[in-house]
Amino acid sequence: MALKVALLGCVGVVWLLRLGVQGADAGDGRKGMEPVPGERLIHLGGRCGSLCPLIHTNVNLTGAGSARSIFEFRTLDPEGLVFYGDTQGGADWFVLVLRGGVPEMQIKKADILSMVSGGPRLNDGKWHQLEVRSEGKIVVLEVDQQVALMVGLDSPMTRVQGDMTGQIRISLGMMLRQEKELFEPLVLAMDGCIRRGVWLNLSDPWVADLDPNAYSCFPDIQPGSYFSGEGLVVFNTSDSLSLPPPPFPSQSRDNIIVELEGHVEDWTGSFLNIQTQNHESLIIATVRNQTKQLEINVDTLTHIMPLVPGENSLTLNLSRHQIKVHYGTTDFTIKQTPPGDPRDWLAEWDKGLFLAFGGVMGGSLHSGSLHSGSDYLHGCIGKIKVQNQEVDLDRALYKHASVTSHSCPVSPL
Ligand SMILES: *[C@@H]1O[C@H](CO)[C@@H](O)[C@H](O)[C@H]1NC(C)=O
Ligand SMILES: *[C@@H]1O[C@H](CO)[C@@H](O)[C@H](O)[C@H]1NC(C)=O
Ligand SMILES: *[C@@H]1O[C@H](CO)[C@@H](O)[C@H](O)[C@H]1NC(C)=O
Ligand SMILES: *[C@@H]1O[C@H](CO)[C@@H](O)[C@H](O)[C@H]1NC(C)=O
Ligand SMILES: *[C@@H]1O[C@H](CO)[C@@H](O)[C@H](O)[C@H]1NC(C)=O
Repeated sequence: MALKVALLGCVGVVWLLRLGVQGADAGDGRKGMEPVPGERLIHLGGRCGSLCPLIHTNVNLTGAGSARSIFEFRTLDPEGLVFYGDTQGGADWFVLVLRGGVPEMQIKKADILSMVSGGPRLNDGKWHQLEVRSEGKIVVLEVDQQVALMVGLDSPMTRVQGDMTGQIRISLGMMLRQEKELFEPLVLAMDGCIRRGVWLNLSDPWVADLDPNAYSCFPDIQPGSYFSGEGLVVFNTSDSLSLPPPPFPSQSRDNIIVELEGHVEDWTGSFLNIQTQNHESLIIATVRNQTKQLEINVDTLTHIMPLVPGENSLTLNLSRHQIKVHYGTTDFTIKQTPPGDPRDWLAEWDKGLFLAFGGVMGGSLHSGSLHSGSDYLHGCIGKIKVQNQEVDLDRALYKHASVTSHSCPVSPL
């Protein structure tokens, strides 16, 4: 068991997961909210990602039998929020997250902010039982009945507010506070599922705003990004935090390679679209399952070729004055800047192109255009790589909630 503890403020004091006095308004009573049993299978990233609370509860801790929460968790996503809890109207808080696949707890109590990480990698696509509990002055995380992490907190200030009455909020799918308050920043979006939850040993149901179209958990998962035909993902190629590689001067490389892997024959719809900042479409790549054809649109030209059985990758090669596509045994130039045209695709990439997967962007200059599109992809893209590094869809400029960033169903839905 690897254990590393970082403490800010006074060290040595303990803090309990249930603490606090007056809870803040959890926002219950919002329109459309309904009770949901804690045992229910819940997708953490589905409905609105990290943008709105998926579920939260607001309970009076007086009478709570135990400050212990047990649930099962399954993911292939290495990074994101598992759950958030707070008391004291949000002044004291707790998060359980994954970073590099490994669990991490961050705890803020009075004048202390602590972070502890370690234990087994959890992003193996299997169900794991997790338990978070307070034992006196110590908070413990168990993974599959083994203690994985333990943290003790104590300070004069935490002792003042150590009583067991008050309210607590627990939220799945969203952190109810500013991300910048975290000990270390994190990509919060989590493509993961939780089931069989017993939260604080209370029978109270969650108050949840579950959309009737909420995205459910697949019975069995495999690595990949699943596009259900309802939405797309858009990257900004100049955003160094979202797309590998970190930007380096275009002079230092001759081309940019975008590679998609997957069972292309099982796809249908547009899987790749690149647009300039003015929403001029440079390329649209589409699979037509009725005709078993791959279609590449550039300007007003359409290249059509039959799908190659067993061919599972397609490569786009952008160089200064050329865009090439490699598929199967075909390697063809789809765009060649005429001599004298100053256009430089690598420079445009660095300035910021829109790189979309799973559909064709709206194409208007309106701000909402990234969020709407057409010809959405239905299928599982196994891997997306830029410059040979895998792209994390959770870091995109925009990702539609229907797209699961790290998991595909094992059998096509
Ligand atoms: C919490 O429960 C205690 C004891 O039952 C009660 O006195 C108090 O008013 C409750 N607080 C809230 C906010 O419901
Ligand atoms: C929940 O509380 C009941 C009674 O208060 C106790 O018997 C049970 O062991 C508790 N379960 C957990 C998981 O703490
Ligand atoms: C793309 O990223 C660059 C660099 O971070 C930024 O200046 C630009 O505003 C971004 N464009 C959009 C549409 O977000
Ligand atoms: C093509 O894909 C659509 C959407 O997934 C599906 O409804 C249709 O049956 C498929 N057609 C063929 C010929 O596979
Ligand atoms: C990309 O195209 C350039 C020529 O434009 C070529 O030299 C290079 O080998 C190509 N890279 C790949 C990975 O196909």
